[in-house]
Amino acid sequence: MFENQLKNEAFVAGESEKEPGAVTWQSPSNIAIVKYWGKHGNQLPNNPSVSFTLSAAHSVTRLEWIPKTGKGLRLRFRFEGREEPAFQAKIEKFLEQNIDILPFTEQFDLQIDSHNSFPHSSGIASSASSMSALVMCLLDMEQQIKKIPSPPDALRQKASWLSRLASGSAARSVYAVASLWGRTPSHSKSDDAWAVGLDDVHPVFKSYRDSILIIHAGTKAVSSRAGHALMEGNPFADVRYTQAHQHTTRLLKALQQGDIESFIQIAEAEALQLHALMMTSNPSFILLKPGTLAAIEKVREFRNSTAIPLSFTLDAGPNLHLLYPQDHESIVSEFIRRELFMYCEEGRWISDAVGNGPSRMP
Ligand code: PMV
Repeated sequence: MFENQLKNEAFVAGESEKEPGAVTWQSPSNIAIVKYWGKHGNQLPNNPSVSFTLSAAHSVTRLEWIPKTGKGLRLRFRFEGREEPAFQAKIEKFLEQNIDILPFTEQFDLQIDSHNSFPHSSGIASSASSMSALVMCLLDMEQQIKKIPSPPDALRQKASWLSRLASGSAARSVYAVASLWGRTPSHSKSDDAWAVGLDDVHPVFKSYRDSILIIHAGTKAVSSRAGHALMEGNPFADVRYTQAHQHTTRLLKALQQGDIESFIQIAEAEALQLHALMMTSNPSFILLKPGTLAAIEKVREFRNSTAIPLSFTLDAGPNLHLLYPQDHESIVSEFIRRELFMYCEEGRWISDAVGNGPSRMP
């Protein structure tokens, strides 16, 4: 339905509107607390997911357009100053598949330059930040050529919808603080086709910290595309989807009420369940490293002995995200330096926090 509406609204520039221009957007990564794992159709999730929007881990993307004649897409993509054919092909495919929505992209030569704030191949997934940054640039370009600004809420929804088509979890990066993607009876505006921003979040979570321990850098043994597909035959899939729904309902309430205890319980259960699903798929994958498990043990010991509500989550990889209220930042940093540093590859960790979503750069 929304797709048909967007197709009807698709914009083609008239000759007088074909002016060159450029725009730059910064967009963050996000960390899922309830995980999206398993999809169907055109990037539709098998269960709802809830994430924190991050801040320090982000992509900055500049899109420049110059009028051209003739049909067909023409773009050049550079990542951190260098041509990146694999990523360029991904962007071309995404634009070609959505040309009905973004037909104006064929009327210009596009030059895209992107870089990430986090080190290359640090094991931090960059598709959520890079794809949402690109989508924000494309929609901004459309607005600039059209010269009619869309209402901000409609724009974010469209950005989330398009980002989802590029990379599922990117749908959640376009809102400040926290997002929910996927239909749940616990939120009337939730939808499988786009994420919604969560407005009603308790202040303690609005400034939550995420210290990302780089236990192992480098590319993953299994792509998330392959991982999602393996949920098809996973014997625990139905139980998983039921639990993800329950976790979503409980987490939304915990985020509203500032219930840190429930948050910890859900976050850790989700992290371990994600990896349990990978271990029980066929073929099976173990993405955790011995250092991940050792660090988890230390985190739980620390929590039990200090009563500081330090918790963890994991992405589809070995790196550990430590989640905790801002008030405990200095004591947790000290704990990381003292007891977790040795599990981090080359002592690397990223100090991040819940953030404000994408922003347009001057
Ligand atoms: O957006 P994808 O297709 O890269 O999948 C992301 C999957 C997880 O990062 C493991 C979980 C999530 O919800 O972000």
